[in-house]
Formats: sequence, C-alpha cells, structure tokens
Amino acid sequence: MNIIVTGGAGFIGGNFIHYYLKEHPEDRVICVDKLTYAGNLSTLAPVMDNPNFRFCRLDICDRENVFSLFEEEKPDAVINFAAESHVDRSIENPGIFLQTNIIGTATMMDACRAFGNIRYHQVSTDEVYGDLPLDRPDLFFTETTPIHTSSPYSSSKAGADLLVQAYQRTYGLPITISRCSNNYGPYHFPEKLIPLMIANCLNDKPLPVYGEGLNVRDWLYVEDHCKAIDLILHKGRIGEVYNVGGHNEMRNIDIVKLIIEALGKDESLITYVTDRKGHDLRYAIDPTKIHEELGWLPETKFQDGIKKTIKWYLENRQWWEEIISGEYQNYYEKMYGNR
Ligand code: NAD
Ligand code: DAU
Repeated sequence: MNIIVTGGAGFIGGNFIHYYLKEHPEDRVICVDKLTYAGNLSTLAPVMDNPNFRFCRLDICDRENVFSLFEEEKPDAVINFAAESHVDRSIENPGIFLQTNIIGTATMMDACRAFGNIRYHQVSTDEVYGDLPLDRPDLFFTETTPIHTSSPYSSSKAGADLLVQAYQRTYGLPITISRCSNNYGPYHFPEKLIPLMIANCLNDKPLPVYGEGLNVRDWLYVEDHCKAIDLILHKGRIGEVYNVGGHNEMRNIDIVKLIIEALGKDESLITYVTDRKGHDLRYAIDPTKIHEELGWLPETKFQDGIKKTIKWYLENRQWWEEIISGEYQNYYEKMYGNR
C-alpha cells in the first residue's frame, strides 16, 4: 500500500510513521506536513533514509499542490493527523484552527474523491464530546455521545468530523474516524501538560497548574493509539467511528506530583495559575466498541509508559531543548507571563 500520512512531523503522526514502517515494511509512507511551530523534522530523522518513506512539505489546505501530489503518488489510503492541536492556542487565535482543521480536512477528502474514492481515516479526539462531571465516575464517552464542544479547537475538530461523515453519506467516500483520549510519550511538543512539566522540572522552573489541578484526563501511551489506527485502517468498518482510550483517568495535579517525584524535585515548584477559559472538567473514553470489533486493548500501563516517557526526555534533551530555546520563548511569555 501507498499511504499518505498528514501531520507526520508532529507528535502522534511522527510516532505513527515510526510504528507503521516497522510493522508494514512492504508499504510506502508519504508524509505531508506544513512544518508549523509544532512540526519537527528531527522527529522523522530515524526514517528519512528509508527508501519506503518520502517527506513532502505541504499545507493540507493547498488544494493545487495536494492534488498534484495525489496525481503523482496515487495513494491507496490517507490518514489525516495534521491539525492545530493545542487548546490554549485556539483560545488565543481560533482562525488558523478553522482553516487547517476544517478546510484542510475537506481538501484532503476532495483529493480522495478526485483520485478514485481513496480510503480516508480521520484522526479525531474525545474532546468533540465536551466534558463529563467530576462527580459522576460512572459516565463515559461512547460513540453515540452527542457532540458538544467547549473550545475553538474541539469545535473545529467536531466540524471536521461532521464533514467526514457527510462525505461518506453524500459521496460514498470510504471513511473511518477515531476519537482518542490524551496521548503521552516520545516527541510530545513541550507546550502540552506532560512534556511541559518534565522540561520545566528538569530546568527547575515553576510548574504552572491551571486552577486547582483537579481536572481529569484519560491518558494513553501514544504507541497504543498508533496500533488502534493501524487496526482501524485495515480492519475497521467503513463509515464507523471508534473511540480509543485505556481507562486511565488521572487528575492533573497527580500527574504533576508523579513527575516531580520521578525526577527527584520538590513540590514547591508547583505554581497554581489562572484557569483555562472554558476548561473541560473530565474526559473518559469507553473503548468497548474497538475492543469487541477489532480486538484492540492498550498494552502499556501508565506506570510503565510514564517511566519510558521521562527516560526519553532525559535521553533526548537536544530534541526539546532546541524547541524551547527558539520562538517558544515568546509563546511561553505570552501564555504564562502574567497568569
Ligand atoms: P501536533 O500539534 O503535535 O502535530 C500536528 C502536526 O500537523 C505538526 O507536524 C504540524 O506541522 C502539522 N500541521 C499543522 N497544520 C498543518 C497544515 N495546514 N498542513 C500540513 N500539516 C500541518 O499534534 P498531535 O498531538 O500529534 O495530534 C495529531 C492529531 O491527533 C490531531 O488531529 C489531534 O487533533 C489528534 N489528537 C491528539 C491527541 C493528543 O493527545 N495529542 C489526542 C487525540 C487526538
Ligand atoms: O483529549 C485529547 C486532547 O488532549 C487532544 O485532542 C488535544 O490535541 C491535546 O492537546 C490534549 O488536550 P488537553 O487540553 O487535554 O491537553 P493539555 O496537555 O493542553 O492539558 C492537559 C490538562 O492539563 C488540561 O486539563 C489543562 C492542564 N494544564 C495544561 C498545561 C499546558 C495545566 O494545568 N497546565 C499547563 O501548563
């Protein structure tokens, strides 16, 4: 198979490309990435010389060049990871989220339609379901939970999901959608909770916890997400949505304390800062469907995954230090300077 993977220089897309080329050495992967602030070619360095891999710097909204690439590569499938992905940035500047996450999705699907109804998988998020109350641990997101979004980011992802379903119903495009909970692991951009806390801890910088740190996220090791997408691509039922998550709910403050302890630092580094606007309280996925239909189960337990992740950040300081020494400084000052 010839597969176009968008957003492959980012966190999950990059991990997916490493995983996919290892698992399917007979297939060819073409990575399409615009290399925004969140895209890092160094994430793809280990596969750059692989003859079954091609990197193509391209905006998924650039219709003309996207169509030319499809003409040239004749892909059998497209997996769309490319997105603006950070909730806090979407609160500051929603426009680019609508552009990439909605228009970009439509552009990729238009190309799929134009070149022979190509198989299309949309990488979506549990955030399209909104949030759950903290005092109802019995409630979970299922695939039939109504879409109910909180942030410009989640709204743009929900808009994309609706378009993907519309393209199937209207044009018969063979689509699937996965909605995953919070991922963690190697190559995670250090603006997100876990890598930010690791990097700040290692630099003895304050650890900014929003509100009281009581919001709950359902964490999944990134490779388990990659395996789920691989399964859906090859065995998923066309037109279906699959929730992906490993029943691993944790409060933010407990994650931060765990990282502090693992790195031998002091809890005095914790700084409570102004809460995120519209902050979702709790996410929790019910993964019954993907388990029963496709046999997927998460393989990495959180206590092992977080150790592996911290080890990776200790052993790959250059990767994240290069990021936080550049333009990131302005971002950090703007987001956390007066918080
Ligand atoms: P990321 O921000 O780390 O990476 C996004 C990548 O997309 C970057 O390489 C960036 O350069 C690229 N990109 C952005 N705009 C582009 C454009 N217009 N054209 C081409 N490339 C573009 O994101 P991530 O955390 O790896 O998330 C990947 C996908 O998974 C997203 O669709 C996100 O909504 C979804 N998701 C993420 C999580 C999570 O916990 N991180 C969980 C569930 C779903
Ligand atoms: O649930 C899936 C989603 O998970 C993905 O769709 C998003 O792309 C991804 O970014 C992630 O969204 P979150 O908003 O949950 O992740 P983030 O790492 O930004 O924040 C996790 C929690 O930690 C959230 O409750 C906010 C809090 N937080 C975050 C940062 C960056 C802090 O307390 N301090 C911080 O500095």
